Amino acid sequence: MYKKLENALRYVRSITDFIPRVALVLGSGLGSFAEGDDVVCKIDYADIPDFPTSSVEGHAGRFVFRYVGDVPTVIMQGRVHYYEGYSMQEVVMPIRLMRLMGAEKLFLTNAAGGINPKFSEGALMMIEDHISSLVPSPLVGKNIDELGVRFPDMSCVYDKDLRKLISESAESLGIPLACGVYIQTSGPNYETPAEIMTYEKWGADAVGMSTACEAMAARHMGMRVCGISCISNMAAGKNTAPLTHEDIKAMANKVGADFCRLVGLAVSKM
Ligand code: HPA
Repeated sequence: MYKKLENALRYVRSITDFIPRVALVLGSGLGSFAEGDDVVCKIDYADIPDFPTSSVEGHAGRFVFRYVGDVPTVIMQGRVHYYEGYSMQEVVMPIRLMRLMGAEKLFLTNAAGGINPKFSEGALMMIEDHISSLVPSPLVGKNIDELGVRFPDMSCVYDKDLRKLISESAESLGIPLACGVYIQTSGPNYETPAEIMTYEKWGADAVGMSTACEAMAARHMGMRVCGISCISNMAAGKNTAPLTHEDIKAMANKVGADFCRLVGLAVSKM
């Protein structure tokens, strides 16, 4: 795996010498943040040797290099998911590559189902902590010593100072921002009401099919991590209508304007 990462990095360096400070992952329906005048370069995942590419509609598959304010940022416009059949080690390859490109901070975003009954569709939730116990750890297998230690600490995955910066950014923009715990499931099916009831008792506030594994891989490499979930729907049993991917993308697009303003301001201060 480390050899593959080195090859991928070599390919990226043959295209651009851009050194990002922040890495940003855009979730489903939130991809418009990667458009703009200040884009320096784009690299399709498909062009990178041995790199996983997304098969999900609504997920473009490329790195976009741009400045957010003065902050050099590498953006993942689209991510790959465990449910596509990739191993967890493959799923976190792009995160590891962005660290090797130079990024020190990771900003994760996603569309998620709301579990906390105080939430409603369209809310934004800052991730305070996560539950990843339902999916395999991306760190299973021989440890890659070049990246980090065998038994990394996960007692504070989501960085306190970055969380404060995001809260203050939301407040200054007048954008309501909840906070809570994200739980990752394998997908691709949505959950049953009984599962959602169980996760609520465990302390989860939002559910999705990504993010926690990426945060773990990033902490393994010593990155400072933060994240926001866009509550695109209330989770099963909290919602009267059956869940569809189309509705979820449409809602994420609707919240997109606030989301872009918040992410833009927060990243520009990182
Ligand atoms: N469940 C899991 N993943 C999701 C959901 C959901 O309700 N909404 C968006 N991603």
